[in-house]
Amino acid sequence: MPLRLLDACARKPVDATPVWLMRQAGRYLPEYRAIREKMSFVEMCRRPDVAAEVTLQPLRRFDLDAAIVFADILLPLEPMGIGFHFTGDEGPVIERPIRSARDLEGVHGIDAAADLQYVMDTIRLVRHELAPGVPLIGFSGAPFTLASYIVEGGHSRNYAHVKRFMYHDPVTFARLMDLISEVVVDYLRAQIAAGAQAVQLFDSWAGWLSPYDYELSILPHVQYVIDAVKGRGAPVIYFANGASAMLDLVAKVRSDVIGVDWRIRLDRAWDQLGDVAVQGNLDPLTLLGPPQAIEERVADVLRRAAGRPGHIFNLGHGMVPQAPPDNVKYLVDAVHRLSAAAG
Ligand code: CP3
Repeated sequence: MPLRLLDACARKPVDATPVWLMRQAGRYLPEYRAIREKMSFVEMCRRPDVAAEVTLQPLRRFDLDAAIVFADILLPLEPMGIGFHFTGDEGPVIERPIRSARDLEGVHGIDAAADLQYVMDTIRLVRHELAPGVPLIGFSGAPFTLASYIVEGGHSRNYAHVKRFMYHDPVTFARLMDLISEVVVDYLRAQIAAGAQAVQLFDSWAGWLSPYDYELSILPHVQYVIDAVKGRGAPVIYFANGASAMLDLVAKVRSDVIGVDWRIRLDRAWDQLGDVAVQGNLDPLTLLGPPQAIEERVADVLRRAAGRPGHIFNLGHGMVPQAPPDNVKYLVDAVHRLSAAAG
């Protein structure tokens, strides 16, 4: 069975461009909402039978080339000693945000295989049920993106708290980043051991940093994590959202695959990234358009990939809840149809 996604990660030739979609499980699917009505989001994550079911939902509808385990980047916070919950309107809320060396006392590393066993059980269940041609992706938040939640206390408009912390007390900030990096390494290694065949690091808020601060305070931690996770049989995908103006720095993370957001043309991005597999980069809101608009924009991304080995088609960020499922089907099929015809 050819695993198109894994072949593309290794920059081998494929019969059609593999496609998966960030946040491909979730509220845009009525079958997700039906389960979600009965329990909270975190409960869904903690129940391996439910999380496995929700992971597989989009694969029953669409001809996707990968599944991504249903979980959340914030789940490791609880075993670290950082309480959080989700509210309907605001999203995640961290109960006691960490903004000083004192706040950091009592926060600790984790043993992911035990502390997040429910994620590992979900991975095992999904692998058992997944068609053999479709690989399973595990994931984690990247150190800065997790730090931004931990310090801001939730969603932020300008990242004032985390930046203030980084400028005023760079030593403690680096300690926090070191601690998170160890957690991320352990979490990703545990997911690979449980059966994840590729892993993605989501650096959703990296693009709010200046290139200067990204290079000085963030990049070394990302490099550390990727070096510690690479070479264990699962390619690493690094997605830094909003970072298209500093791809020369992002290229230095030594990841197998680099995810690109939709704010840059894919050929330009690839020129800056060099010899690496590239994932992206359709504007997620394209899914709100009619099929013809989707078709044109898929064709544009594929034209810019230009048949180079190592392209994985994805959105430039996560799916929005308003995406009509029929359009998602149209998108996935268009990627395969257009890329197979060009090849
Ligand atoms: O891709 C997938 O289908 C796997 C599932 C997945 C979720 N979260 C499920 C989820 C993945 C990969 C994530 C990653 C995640 N979580 C990120 C990185 C990706 C990105 O979008 O940048 C971030 C920043 C989070 C944190 C998070 N989780 C926020 C800010 C929110 C609230 C806002 C929102 O979109 O709802 C969540 C909740 C969340 N995570 C939901 C889902 C399906 C919605 C929960 C619900 O049903 O109410």
